[in-house]
Amino acid sequence: MELIRVADDAGDELTLVNYNGRKYPNLPGCMETKVLERLPSAEIRSDDILVCSFPKSGTHWVWEMVRLLVAGQLDRAEFGNGFNLMENCNVGDYYKDFPSPRILNTHVGFNELPEQVKVKKPKILYVTRNPKDVTVSYYNHVKKLAYNYTGEWKNFVRPSLEGKFEYGSWFDYVKDWEEVKKTTDVPILTINYEDMQENVFREMKKVAAFLGINRSDEFVKEVCDHCSFASMQKSRSPFAKVMYRKGEVGDWKNWFTVAQNEWCDHLFKEKMKDCPLEFRYSLK
Ligand code: A3P
Repeated sequence: MELIRVADDAGDELTLVNYNGRKYPNLPGCMETKVLERLPSAEIRSDDILVCSFPKSGTHWVWEMVRLLVAGQLDRAEFGNGFNLMENCNVGDYYKDFPSPRILNTHVGFNELPEQVKVKKPKILYVTRNPKDVTVSYYNHVKKLAYNYTGEWKNFVRPSLEGKFEYGSWFDYVKDWEEVKKTTDVPILTINYEDMQENVFREMKKVAAFLGINRSDEFVKEVCDHCSFASMQKSRSPFAKVMYRKGEVGDWKNWFTVAQNEWCDHLFKEKMKDCPLEFRYSLK
């Protein structure tokens, strides 16, 4: 594991971690604990619930709702409290004493998950979001957190969508999951950010059914309301304004130029030519 600086199109750099040729965020403690090296051998329980997503796809939102659905009650815990990426902490120790079912988050791909996933077969919630809103969200994320990045949007879009930054290419990530879903017997439910924005209650009912959790419609509605964007943004967490930034489908229209948008559509066609997956870029 080593810290590296990765340049955008104008030479402005952001700090990332390089491990085995892959790039990861430089999250607190990750260098000291060598957590990435230990991830493959992390212990997994069969009743763990894994929330897997490409960064900025709505991971925190899903995690909070699943946490409450599982608990069967609303609580006063601060949003984000207990949320930690598996690659961000000392996996074995951090999660070791969590009561079951643990809800674990990660942005690593299926084949980088702990080896026991294929044996213990925990349920996986795989969260997707359209790549344009993901890129806008990620740009704002790196500008506000400790990446030491001062670059401009116009120089960020191309390298970001071409996979130069953390976790590589959005396209490779989603295509890998589509392949995995065809072949693995690990149970995976795909949930999509745009679908949640359209009707979060409907999507959470699907999640509850997948997890085998029997909750009343009233309770599922309460969970959805409790975890509304407005509610999560009011969190006292110092990261709230970064993690819960705008919470919309289609904010990309305020960022992408016409040329960037055409380039992105072209890239999508080229990269996804063998993968019949479609995304919504607006709900209207
Ligand atoms: P924006 O930056 O577009 O606002 P992640 O949790 O994977 O880092 O994803 C962060 C994105 O999800 C951010 O997108 C954030 O605002 C959005 N988000 C978080 N909570 C949300 C909620 N309750 N409703 C809608 N969007 C939410």
